[in-house]
Amino acid sequence: MLNDLYKYTSLIYSHLMRKIDYSDWAQYLSDIFDYTNVKTDTILELACGNGTLFNHFKRKFEVIILSDISFCMLKQSESGKTNLVCCDMLKLPFHRKFNVVYSTFDSINYIMNEKDLGKFFRGIKRIIGDEAIMTFDVSLEKNSIKNLKHLNRKGKFKGIRYTQESDYRASQRIHYNHFTIMLPDGSIVKETHKQKIFDFFTYFEVIEKSGLFVQDCFDAFSFEDADPESERVQFILRKQ
Ligand SMILES: C[S@@+](CC[C@H](N)C(=O)[O-])C[C@H]1O[C@@H](n2cnc3c(N)ncnc32)[C@H](O)[C@@H]1O
Repeated sequence: MLNDLYKYTSLIYSHLMRKIDYSDWAQYLSDIFDYTNVKTDTILELACGNGTLFNHFKRKFEVIILSDISFCMLKQSESGKTNLVCCDMLKLPFHRKFNVVYSTFDSINYIMNEKDLGKFFRGIKRIIGDEAIMTFDVSLEKNSIKNLKHLNRKGKFKGIRYTQESDYRASQRIHYNHFTIMLPDGSIVKETHKQKIFDFFTYFEVIEKSGLFVQDCFDAFSFEDADPESERVQFILRKQ
C-alpha cells in the first residue's frame, strides 16, 4: 500500500527527532513489558516510522514486526532482516495473535475521529491473545499548547531546507504541523500532518466499548497514574 504520509518529512525525520532519546523510551517500554509480566518472543510495532526504537529491542525479542502506513518512512529504516509491513493501523492485515503490540510517539494521535479510534481498538482486540497487552502513548492538549513554540522552527539536513509551522486549533482539537521543504534540486514541496488531540476520557470510553480495558494509564515515562492535565499518557490495555 502506498501512502503519501511522511513522503518528504521521512527524509528529515531523524533530524527532526534528534533530541528524542529513543534508548530511554525503549527502556521505559521494556520496564512496562516487565511490569505486565507478559511473555513473548514476538512483538508488533504499529506506526513505527523509520523504526528507530526497534534497534533497542533487537536483543530482547526474537521476532520483531515493524509496520507503518508510510512506505517512505519504512524505507528509511535500518532494520535489516526485520519484518517490515506497510499497512494502515486501521486495517491490520495480520491473521495471527500477538502477545505484545505497541506504538510510540503520538502515532495514535493520527487517528482523526472517534469512529476510527473504535475501529482501531477493535482491530487490536482481534490480533491479540487472551494474555496479551497493547501499549501506546498519546499526546494531550497540554502538550500541544506547551510545545507550540519550539515546533515552529526551520533547519537544514543533508542539503534539504525545511520550515515547520505548528498550530493547535483548540476548537477542532487538531494539532497541525505544516512543513515546507526545499529539496536539493531546488524544488519546493509541502506536507501537512494533522493529529487529533482527544479528551483524556474519550480514550477510556472508546476502549471500553471495543472489548478491551485499560489496565493502567500512566503519566508517560513514569508509573504514576495519569490525569487530564498530563502532557503525554501511556495506556496499557488488555482484552476484556
Ligand atoms: C510521529 S511519527 C512516530 C513514528 C515512530 N513511532 C517513532 O516513535 O519515531 C507517526 C507515525 O505514524 C504513522 N501513521 C500515521 N497514521 C497511520 C496509520 N493510519 N497507520 C499506520 N501508521 C500511521 C506515520 O506514517 C508516522 O510514521
